[in-house]
Amino acid sequence: MPLTWLVLLGICCCWHMTDSQLVYKLNKIECLPNQSRVKNVTCKVKAVNWNTAVVNMDCYLIFPVNDPTIRVQVFMKDYSNQFKPFLIDATFKLCEVVERRSFLPYGVMVWELFKSFTNAKSCRFSPGQVSARNGYLNTSYVPPFPHGQYKIILMFSDSNSTNTENVGSVKFFVQAMDQIKSKKRPRGT
Ligand SMILES: *[C@@H]1O[C@H](CO)[C@@H](O)[C@H](O)[C@H]1NC(C)=O
Ligand SMILES: *[C@@H]1O[C@H](CO)[C@@H](O)[C@H](O)[C@H]1NC(C)=O
Ligand SMILES: *[C@@H]1O[C@H](CO)[C@@H](O)[C@H](O)[C@H]1NC(C)=O
Ligand SMILES: *[C@@H]1O[C@H](CO)[C@@H](O)[C@H](O)[C@H]1NC(C)=O
Repeated sequence: MPLTWLVLLGICCCWHMTDSQLVYKLNKIECLPNQSRVKNVTCKVKAVNWNTAVVNMDCYLIFPVNDPTIRVQVFMKDYSNQFKPFLIDATFKLCEVVERRSFLPYGVMVWELFKSFTNAKSCRFSPGQVSARNGYLNTSYVPPFPHGQYKIILMFSDSNSTNTENVGSVKFFVQAMDQIKSKKRPRGT
């Protein structure tokens, strides 16, 4: 753990010393639903400009999700082009975060992003449509990562007192990079 904090601290110090702006650009998304529970899934990334791409996702829940557990894992692509675990592997119950019984930073971050970009109103989901519109990783919520290629996996499962079932997972492929500044000048003035 102390190593993790040192690394995070190091990342933050370097971040404050640079004057360029970090952005997280989404390159690709993959949705892997448990098809017995989730149907009619569409999952798309739409490029907006050099620095920004947004996620649009739709799916239909056949069964309710009463007590979702989310596991967040981050992988970074290394020099040999392989994704290796990178610092974050956290598991939390969404309702504990929403009902403020847990303050796990990555849990809070995931819920903030959910609230901003999906139709989720509570931590429990009734059967029906779940949609995300124009989602992106806002750098105000996400800690500054070193430049590079990342894979972020969110795994959703549902559990009751006796049973845990996989609901589905979403993989985000993200590039942490300096913002590309437009060289265009206003014309016609
Ligand atoms: C599948 O989802 C699309 C929107 O994403 C919706 O228009 C369509 O009605 C859905 N089809 C079924 C069978 O639920
Ligand atoms: C990110 O979130 C902050 C705080 O909610 C907001 O002020 C800011 O406009 C957002 N950034 C972008 C690029 O939308
Ligand atoms: C837990 O979930 C399983 C499968 O969804 C169900 O068969 C079982 O009745 C549930 N148990 C309780 C105590 O709700
Ligand atoms: C997928 O959902 C079905 C129906 O609820 C369940 O029986 C099955 O165990 C789930 N699969 C996994 C890998 O959890």
